Amino acid sequence: MIHTHLIDEYLSQSLQKREQEGLLRQLACNEGLIDFCSNDYLGLAQSNLLSLDGTGSQEEMASGSTGSRLVSGNSPLAEKTERIVAGFHHAEAALLFNTGYMANLGLCSCIADKHSVFIYDEHIHASIIDGMRLSLAKRFKFKHNDVDDLRKKLKQAEGKVYVVIESLYSMDGDLAPLQEISDVCKEHKAALIVDEAHAVGIYGDQGRGLVCHHQLENDVWARIITFGKALGCHGAAVVGSSLLRDYLINHARSFIYTTAMPPHAFIVIQRSYQEMAVAQREKLFGLIHHFQKVARETSIEDVRFLLNPSPIQGVIVPGNERVKRLAEYVRQQGFFMKAILSPTVPAGSERLRICLHAFNSCRQIDQLLTAIKLFLT
Ligand SMILES: Cc1ncc(COP(=O)(O)O)c(C=O)c1O
Repeated sequence: MIHTHLIDEYLSQSLQKREQEGLLRQLACNEGLIDFCSNDYLGLAQSNLLSLDGTGSQEEMASGSTGSRLVSGNSPLAEKTERIVAGFHHAEAALLFNTGYMANLGLCSCIADKHSVFIYDEHIHASIIDGMRLSLAKRFKFKHNDVDDLRKKLKQAEGKVYVVIESLYSMDGDLAPLQEISDVCKEHKAALIVDEAHAVGIYGDQGRGLVCHHQLENDVWARIITFGKALGCHGAAVVGSSLLRDYLINHARSFIYTTAMPPHAFIVIQRSYQEMAVAQREKLFGLIHHFQKVARETSIEDVRFLLNPSPIQGVIVPGNERVKRLAEYVRQQGFFMKAILSPTVPAGSERLRICLHAFNSCRQIDQLLTAIKLFLT
């Protein structure tokens, strides 16, 4: 007999509380719906990249890597993939991690000691917050995309200073003022870290990302590239100097203490890079333009569209209950989207997050906006 009722009671009370607050998270399957939700911006996740030119060698198709990179999981294939990733993003070196979450956790937790300071955008991703929390460094946030506030915080910071931002923010779909932030970091000798999770594949020549687009490769200290969004596969890399790569191999615990990705995952990453370079970015930008045009014409009282120059759009519908009802309504109409509730976003800015993809169509966008208007008026 296992005596866990105290623990079980704790777990179920916590779930009941979430349910009462209307915040219970539940898994759902979403087959058969028109995708306005996923991060598969270019539609690459749907391609069967492993069978593009027949299967690879027996070694390349092995199911497992047998251990961590430092023990038995390293291979010429893994190192070649890192050279391809580094070269593509115009960086000296890259180190692969199993996910973007693990890349951010490993990086932020190991680069800073108690004499260090993180200054981060208030909208930064949870994986970076968790990584910073695991370090001994002090942490200060600056107002979202507010360069003056960042400058203020930098003036007060002492020791080794890191500034952490995203280049395209995943909830609002807006872009960071990268050039200005880079200039301020230079002025204050702070190391700039840019999470490019949502920007890679969308911006820059062949989808190299916003840092390359602004030619800031030499001014950004480290970048996080994730493969699970526009690249349509899985995994991530930290790109930067060879010194940083060597340091992470020695200190990043989410790199050291985990089984490496299997060989076929490296093949898929390499092929995703080839596909991404020639993907239908113009079509995606055409749809973004169409969405913005139609959304501007769709005036609804008390409702505001985010209208960003990115695939991440949104309609602000204040109140968790109302936006949840809207998400359920559009789902019944055949569209797949997520309501983003407070406290994930500030109360009053609850929203339906609308992700556009190269495989969507103008007609689908028109139908979606008509359905949203019908529900809200
Ligand atoms: C900005 C940002 N960074 C990192 C991650 C984590 O990446 P992954 O899904 O590969 O763990 C995400 C994913 O949600 C993200 O949006």
